[in-house]
Amino acid sequence: MNILVIGPGAIGSLWAIKLQQDGHQVAVFGRQTDSEYQCQFDESCYTFNNRQADDVTHADLILVTVKAWQVASALDSLPQPINPDTIIMLMHNGMGSLDTIGSLLQTNPVLLATTTHGAFKPSSSQLIHTGQGETLIGAANAQGGRCQFLRDVFDHALPAVHWHPQIEHALWRKLAVNCVINPLTAIHQCPNGELARPEYQAIITRLIAEVSTVMTAESIPVNLEQLTAHIYQVIHATSKNQSSMHQDVYYRRKTEIDFITGYLIRSATKHGIAVPENDTLYQHIKTLEQQWESLNEL
Ligand code: PAF
Repeated sequence: MNILVIGPGAIGSLWAIKLQQDGHQVAVFGRQTDSEYQCQFDESCYTFNNRQADDVTHADLILVTVKAWQVASALDSLPQPINPDTIIMLMHNGMGSLDTIGSLLQTNPVLLATTTHGAFKPSSSQLIHTGQGETLIGAANAQGGRCQFLRDVFDHALPAVHWHPQIEHALWRKLAVNCVINPLTAIHQCPNGELARPEYQAIITRLIAEVSTVMTAESIPVNLEQLTAHIYQVIHATSKNQSSMHQDVYYRRKTEIDFITGYLIRSATKHGIAVPENDTLYQHIKTLEQQWESLNEL
């Protein structure tokens, strides 16, 4: 397939390399303006076209791995219109980006994906695959539902990949993980594993209870005990990781809070549910972001 990866960060580069290794024609669209992107991985160097208009026109699949708040602007900044047959797959933390992609949802097959693979870029041209994981893919519209073959394509390149008939359920489960781990580790600037300490237990319990109430209102099947066990399992499995929001706050970058806790709060408001613990974390992260913005304006 002709595949264009928009956003060759850690996860985007991992998929670009694995799909190229598997024989696909892979190009990228990154922030750097060079016409090629090179990435060292497992002692080999992988080269991709970067930002070439032809790669947009000929793409069978566009895999979008930028952050949720960058999806719309990344798609808008492409130098050529996207062909209506091109499959679009969004893979990022958080929910709500579909609302930002406008008419593409009417014309193109659109898929959503979530992955637990760990990847890290120690520099702009090096990639380390830090942890094996699992990827779930599902349809965001009827045309996307006809693209189940992509499970085999992705699974062959980097297993394990499963087709999820109700990807929204999986995305909400991931949203619950991110609502707990990301703002707490960002505010306390601690690795994920610290959240297993007893002093965090009460707040984590309250956060999960709020998320689970909203999930139930959204008709997402949820069992409070199982969700709690799952979140602690992720805390333990990623104990040495610095969460993505921890890193964003450390480097004073815009965070994904509007598409994680913000999405939860918008859904809670729609159902008339109070989520005070999540509100507090949301406000805390927004205040930090505003402080950097005003410092940048000085
Ligand atoms: O955003 C992240 O960092 C990850 O989704 C997770 C699962 C919280 C692990 O760090």
